[in-house]
Amino acid sequence: MSQPAPRSLEQEGRWNALARTLQAVVSPETTITREESLAEKTTMRVGGAARVYVEPASVEDLQAIFRQLTGEAVPVVMLGRGSNLLIPDKGVDAVVVSLSHPSWQVFESRPDGRVWVGAGLRLKNLCGLAIKAGLAGFEFLEGIPGNVGGALRMNAGAMGGWMFDVVEEVRLMTRAGEIRTLRKSEMHVDYRHCAELTEAVALGALLVPVHAKPDDDQAIKRQIDAYRDKRHQTQPREPSAGCIFKNPPGNSAGRLIDQAGLKGERIGGAEVSTVHANFIVNRGGASCADVIALVRRVRARVQESSGVTLEPEVLLYGSEWGREL
Ligand code: EPU
Repeated sequence: MSQPAPRSLEQEGRWNALARTLQAVVSPETTITREESLAEKTTMRVGGAARVYVEPASVEDLQAIFRQLTGEAVPVVMLGRGSNLLIPDKGVDAVVVSLSHPSWQVFESRPDGRVWVGAGLRLKNLCGLAIKAGLAGFEFLEGIPGNVGGALRMNAGAMGGWMFDVVEEVRLMTRAGEIRTLRKSEMHVDYRHCAELTEAVALGALLVPVHAKPDDDQAIKRQIDAYRDKRHQTQPREPSAGCIFKNPPGNSAGRLIDQAGLKGERIGGAEVSTVHANFIVNRGGASCADVIALVRRVRARVQESSGVTLEPEVLLYGSEWGREL
């Protein structure tokens, strides 16, 4: 594993000063820490620390942070449930913001069947709360290991459904701290992509289910069980970042990698899952460098065997895939 380059005292001093400046503009409920380890906050469990890590306790505190950082040449990156990203081994030279404070986990069911959800609410909880509230149509979200904010940004999907299928409007904050509400029709949403949320940050969304409640109450439960069984049979249990590559148009990344004979291919602690070839799993002690090297190898082999160039779906956090591939 390559060792991260040591940072100078001067650099350390600047990050310390920045953390203090931010602390001064927020309420005491907001947590700000230095060198917060991020591996445990992701499902892949690799990588280093955030130079500055913030858990804002309110919209006002998030706004104060964004406004404070507007003039600074410091990158700000959002962290969701960490289920679709790789943290580089050297960590992240940025202010990492996580909406994991309870105030972001709102679920408000409205009499008309719509639901207001906060960006920090886990999809699994959203699904459970919807069932309790007698709402159907959110079942497909149960198995996606993310929160609302990340699912909106990536237009996460599973079992034939996409996050934006159930979105009516999104409330967001620009990096300048301006708050706006956009209707779905005003947004540019695609496979694993939402243009408006590459820069701006989702604060919450108004959801409306795609299908009506079935007459039989047990039907929702049966549907969730069926999705869960399918997932357990077809996807690995070890730590991973979910599917590592996007499906190329009209094709399946998993099938292409499988056909290239790459199941079980291993570099260090990273392995192409023997259950589903589009998952790279951490077999224990993997570094981010192991995963990146395996991504590169898989991509080259699939290119050789099928002529298809796979594009990563997972984000290389605070960085770009370009020079790694
Ligand atoms: N296949 C193989 N070998 C494998 C894996 C898959 O031949 O090792 C074949 C399957 O037999 C099937 C086809 O590839 O014919 C597609 O596989 P699957 O049904 O598992 O779906 P997928 O396209 O690989 C997508 C999403 C998943 C989501 C599942 C279930 C992408 C990149 N992946 O997988 O999302 O959970 O459908 O709905 O869009 C994720 O985004 O992280 C993710 C896991």
